[in-house]
Amino acid sequence: MENEENKPASISTLSIIQMRDVSASYDSKNAILKNVSMNVHRGTNYAIVGASGSGKSTLLKLMNGMMIPSNGIVLYNYQKPDVKNKSYKKSMAKIGYIPQTLGLVKNSTVMDNVMIGALPRIDGVKSFFKIFPKKEIEYAHDILKLVGLDEKSDRKVHMLSGGEKRRVAIARALMQKPHVLLADEIVSELDSVTAREVMDVIKDAQQKLNLTSIMIHHDMNLALEYANRVAVIKEGEKVLEIGVEGEQIIDFQTGNLTQQEILEMYSESQK
Ligand SMILES: Nc1ncnc2c1ncn2[C@@H]1O[C@H](COP(=O)(O)OP(=O)(O)OP(=O)(O)O)[C@@H](O)[C@H]1O
Ligand SMILES: [Mg+2]
Repeated sequence: MENEENKPASISTLSIIQMRDVSASYDSKNAILKNVSMNVHRGTNYAIVGASGSGKSTLLKLMNGMMIPSNGIVLYNYQKPDVKNKSYKKSMAKIGYIPQTLGLVKNSTVMDNVMIGALPRIDGVKSFFKIFPKKEIEYAHDILKLVGLDEKSDRKVHMLSGGEKRRVAIARALMQKPHVLLADEIVSELDSVTAREVMDVIKDAQQKLNLTSIMIHHDMNLALEYANRVAVIKEGEKVLEIGVEGEQIIDFQTGNLTQQEILEMYSESQK
């Protein structure tokens, strides 16, 4: 194991995901993200907020290795993305990613969807015939209890409510036994009561399973309510990094700002 003292001084040992001056593009011409730097500490609940098209989903794809930056550096667990590196691939398997579209198999049951999260641990032939080890099935039931869906484990996903579908996607990600949970606007289309119920499920899981979470939100109030840190993205740039401390909203880059000012600034970015 690498000696802590041998690590470059600029890399914090607390970090699980680091981005340094990252730019990204889909066509090698137009930069979608420009010089974004962020440092996500282990155990934090990090949120990303910004207007539609500002580059939030792209940011998450860079974090889970689905995209490679055109400039700058992304480190997960101090490792640069390298699909040929076994240790990197093992690390990446510990990232639970919930895409904006959830990616559920709607004609399959809740349990079958959740077991997808365990597939990297299960022999390919056995998983094809749905012969799962007993301990994995027991773990899936534990996870389903945690998200409040165990009684619906045999139900087809297309028969579930919007909030329940989100719980399935969370359970599938937790089944990976992740260190980090990345969720792309998982509560955006829900009413505020159901959105908070789903957020409470994630908060509960995060505490019980010792997870770092990075979540994209459209609603700044919800982000500030649940996250320790909120990065605001505007037109591909990180313009703020804020969080609630006591009664105040702190701008971690420049000093204190009142809640009203922050919300007004965010409204600007929506225009
Ligand atoms: N696969 C792709 N190919 C080309 N351009 C893309 C692709 N995905 C996203 N883009 C473009 O990149 C920009 C940022 O997209 P991204 O999906 O990251 O935004 P977002 O902030 O997540 O938006 P939303 O809130 O609507 O989900 C947009 O202009 C979008 O059209
Ligand atoms: Mg998006």
